[in-house]
Formats: sequence, C-alpha cells, structure tokens
Amino acid sequence: MTQALKGVRILDFTHVQSGPTCTQLLAWFGADVIKVERPGVGDITRGQLQDVPNADSLYFTMLNHNKRSITLDTKNPKGKEVLTALMKTCDVLVENFGPGVLDRMGFPWETIQKINPKLIVASIKGFGPGPYEDCKVYENVAQCTGGAASTTGFRDGLPLVTGAQIGDSGTGLHLALGIVTALYHRTMSGKGQKVTAAMQDGVLNLSRVKLRDQQRLAHGPLKEYSQFGEGIPFGDAVPRAGNDSGGGQPGRILKCKGWDTDPNAYIYFITQAPVWEKICDVIGEPGWKTHPDYAKPAARLPRLNEIFARIEQWTMTKTKFEAMEILNKDDIPCGPILSMKELAEDQSLRATGTIVEVDHPTRGKYLSVGNPIKLSDSPTVVKRSPLLGEHTDEILKDVLGFNDNQVAEIHNSGAVSPPRKVEAAE
Ligand code: COA
Repeated sequence: MTQALKGVRILDFTHVQSGPTCTQLLAWFGADVIKVERPGVGDITRGQLQDVPNADSLYFTMLNHNKRSITLDTKNPKGKEVLTALMKTCDVLVENFGPGVLDRMGFPWETIQKINPKLIVASIKGFGPGPYEDCKVYENVAQCTGGAASTTGFRDGLPLVTGAQIGDSGTGLHLALGIVTALYHRTMSGKGQKVTAAMQDGVLNLSRVKLRDQQRLAHGPLKEYSQFGEGIPFGDAVPRAGNDSGGGQPGRILKCKGWDTDPNAYIYFITQAPVWEKICDVIGEPGWKTHPDYAKPAARLPRLNEIFARIEQWTMTKTKFEAMEILNKDDIPCGPILSMKELAEDQSLRATGTIVEVDHPTRGKYLSVGNPIKLSDSPTVVKRSPLLGEHTDEILKDVLGFNDNQVAEIHNSGAVSPPRKVEAAE
C-alpha cells in the first residue's frame, strides 16, 4: 500500500483555516507538506481559542496534521534565499494571504515562474477579480457574500450563518481539487499553472440549489417551500426556508420524545414520494393513501404544515433513535439530529477513522476529524501537528541540502527562529 500523493512536495504558506484545510488533505494523501511560519509567532491560530496554557490550540492542531513546520522570515534577505530554494524543490505552493501579499513579498507569479516553471501556485482569496478583489475575508463574510446567509434561517428572521465552515473549509476542499487537477495536467504539459479559488465562489457553488430556485421563481411560487402552503406571497429573491428540504422531496425537522429537555431530540423526516404509503401506515393515517388531498405529491404541497404536524405527533412518541430504527425498516429517509457530544462518542466513526484520537506532546490526547475521503489502497494515518519550527533544521539540511555552516549562517541572520523541540515542550 502506498500513499497516493507520495513524492509530491507542498510549500505550505497557508494560515488560519481555509488554506490549512486544503494542505492537510494533501498531507493525508501522502504529500510532504512543509508549513512556512513566521519566526516566533507562527500561524496565528496556534494561540487562538487556547484551552490548554502554552499548548497549540485545537484550532491549530486540528487543521495541521501530518505537516512539517519551518520558521522563515520571508522579508529577511536570507529568508528570501531560503524561500527561493524551497520554491525550486517543491511541486506546489499553496497560500491564502491577503490580496497582494505574495507580490509585496517580492514573489509575483512572473518571478515564481522564472524560479520554477513547473511550480503550481494555488491561492485562496476572499473574492475573484472584480470590485471586492482587494478585500480581506473570513468565513462568515464569505457565507454572507456567497448566497448562503440570505437563504439560511427562517423567513421572518435574520439571515443566518451556518456552523459548517463552508467558506473556509469548503473553499479549501475546492482548492485541493484544483491542485490535484493541475498536478495531473502537469504530468502531460510539464508546466505549472495558477490555481485560484475565491471563497465567495466556493460558497456560491455550495449554494447552487438556491440559484436554481431564484430562476424557478420567475415561473411561479416555490411550491415545496412552507410559505406556499401558508399562502404568503413570494418576493423577487429566494426567501429563507427554515428547515424545508432543499430538493424535490419535502422534509422537516420534527420533535422527538424528550425534546422539551434535550435541545437535540429531533429528527429530519423526508416524505419521499415512493414510500408515502408506508409513511401513512407508520403514523396511523392509512386513509391518506387514497384520499385525493394526500395521495399524490402535488396535492400534498399546499398541506405540508398539516402533514408534518401529524407526522410530528407520531415522532414525539419515540426517541430520535427509536424513530430512526422504525423508519429505516421501511426505507423512509430520515436522520436524527446528532450533537457534537454524540458524534464524538460514536464508535462507528472511530472505527472508520472519521473521528480520530491524536496524542500531542504539549496538550495530550484530543479528538479530531480524520480524513473524510477514503482511498481503498491509500489509507490515511493521522499524525499530530508540528510544533512551531520543529522541522526547520531538518528541512534546511535534508530538503535543501545546506551544510552545518550554512544552517548556522541562516540562524544568525534572524531569518528563522530556534525550533521548538519536542523534548523541551514536554
Ligand atoms: N515572514 C514575514 N512576513 C510574513 C510571513 C512570513 N513568514 N507570513 C506572512 N507575513 C506577512 C505578509 O507578508 C503580510 O505583510 P504585508 O501586509 O506587509 O504585505 C502580513 O504578514 C499579513 O498577511 P495577511 O495574509 O494579509 O494576514 P492578515 O492577518 O492581515 O489577514 C486574512 C488574514 C485571513 C484576512 C487574509 O490573509 C486573507 O484575506 N486571506 C485570504 C482569504 C482567506 O483565506 N480567508 C480565510 C482565512 S481562514
């Protein structure tokens, strides 16, 4: 068994969440990911949301597994020399600096191409070319500008951002696909190219069904939205639709036994047309199988509130897991609302490596989300994130071939900071 990206070397200039998500995936697939960090400081997330004093935060550790860390001041002349040497030996440079940062560092695309024409340069920015291209962007800004927030939440409430990091991690995923595609292209063309993923574009891509509905609005009301059954007219933009299903099979979140004390005692219930008759039997409404108001999907659309209220009377008599078991026997699509606590304790997710326990020298054991993408011949082994500059000398010597004197010279120039040794950290 070999790792799929073994032999690929990544110059990882990423920070915070979006870029690190991308390079962590590449590392999990076997690429040698060299994370370049500012001397003494490192990725800002090392110190953000810290739960254990003097230990890298979970924010950092959970996004930087399987990487090596080198400190490098890229504004120091010696640091620039080291960076140039790294560019020559790497296959891909990945960055998510603010707009123009790489240029200001002295490394515009034209210069990089001269240094290494085979180097793929992959970037995440908040926006693509246009009026906002110079803006810095974080997760929630992307959710708001990419169409997710205006379509999330309840019709009569504020736009909402979602807990899933579709702007950061979502765009990191998009970029990873762009990188492996450019690597594949390079095997034939022999040339590197620029790969860019804008967070606004990534979020819009994930909100595609809402652009679909925007266009459907021109041809009449969106009949599967609850507001249709409630007789509330549609405006000129796609409204927020609460927990209505985003597809053609109506669905809702319904209360289950214990909902009055447990904030997660709910189930998502889909009234999929092919199993409608089974749903009628389960909830004790066999008459609905033939009744003209309920038998056909189109007849049900104006009555969704009434139908789901009746289904909820049934789900409230069961726990979410009991309901899941009964409904699944009849192939009725549904899913319990699982809390993070329940997911963290889920043994089947542990067994597949989707939730992993990782040991770390300064913080001890913690849980992380492992690689959600499984390759049959290239399994992922999750290794702890590096300490700041842990691999500086190793990279200077083994990757770049500098001798002891040259390494000492680089240290004396202030271009790197003394590596944080694992023994010292323990
Ligand atoms: N050595 C020396 N300087 C370094 C360095 C290093 N190793 N690494 C970074 N820097 C410098 C940069 O050169 C830059 O300096 P400059 O502004 O003088 O040119 C400076 O650090 C700040 O970089 P920047 O990326 O703008 O960081 P920021 O903290 O000000 O902004 C973001 C953070 C995330 C808002 C910004 O990077 C951004 O918009 N990124 C693109 C979108 C994105 O990925 N957002 C989501 C993040 S999860």
